[in-house]
Amino acid sequence: MSGRFITLEGIEGVGKTTNLNYVRTRLEQRGIDVVVTREPGGTPLAEEIRALLLSPREEPVAELTELLLMFAARAQHLHALIEPALARGAWVLCDRFTDATFAYQGGGRQLDAGPVALLEQLVQGARRPDLTLLLDLPVALGLQRAHARGKPDRFETERVEFFERVRQAYLERAAAEPARIAVIDAAPALPQVQCQIDRALARLELPA
Ligand code: TMP
Repeated sequence: MSGRFITLEGIEGVGKTTNLNYVRTRLEQRGIDVVVTREPGGTPLAEEIRALLLSPREEPVAELTELLLMFAARAQHLHALIEPALARGAWVLCDRFTDATFAYQGGGRQLDAGPVALLEQLVQGARRPDLTLLLDLPVALGLQRAHARGKPDRFETERVEFFERVRQAYLERAAAEPARIAVIDAAPALPQVQCQIDRALARLELPA
């Protein structure tokens, strides 16, 4: 049987890494074969594209270039890692996926959603996540946590308004697709966040 595809989303500083590890543990406790990966990245070539996308540079990056590089990395990731893993029955747990493109390039950079949806169709066909956990936090709080981590990448140097648009776009997608996207309030203490994650995971049929 084909595996399930779970993605984690949210603005910077919402605690994706900690919660991704939590989800992985929960699934492995049920005996599930879990493949953990991330976007942009996940294969050697896609990781090289990630480095191009994240490194701060003097040359301004055109919005369309950024969009195409995101989907170039995604095409490789799907082809070389995600689809083969799902086909052999593994569950794929991915730190960000196409909701991030709608949120960052669509919301943040204010690109039209039309071309994003076209590329989604071209690159993914019918492939969509089975479940998306959207970790949500007020922007000021998220950025405060993210900045405490050290040297900012090309996205982290964006202004607060950019991240407000990103957060808004994520929440709009969640409102439009409530069956797939579970909004997790990332503000409370970790056990309470993880309790919400458990409830969201129960939407998928987990092995006993
Ligand atoms: P990360 O630091 O959470 O791993 O993500 C890298 C950055 O890439 C993050 O700032 C969000 C951004 N990003 C996009 O702008 N569009 C996308 O489609 C993806 C997957 C990530």
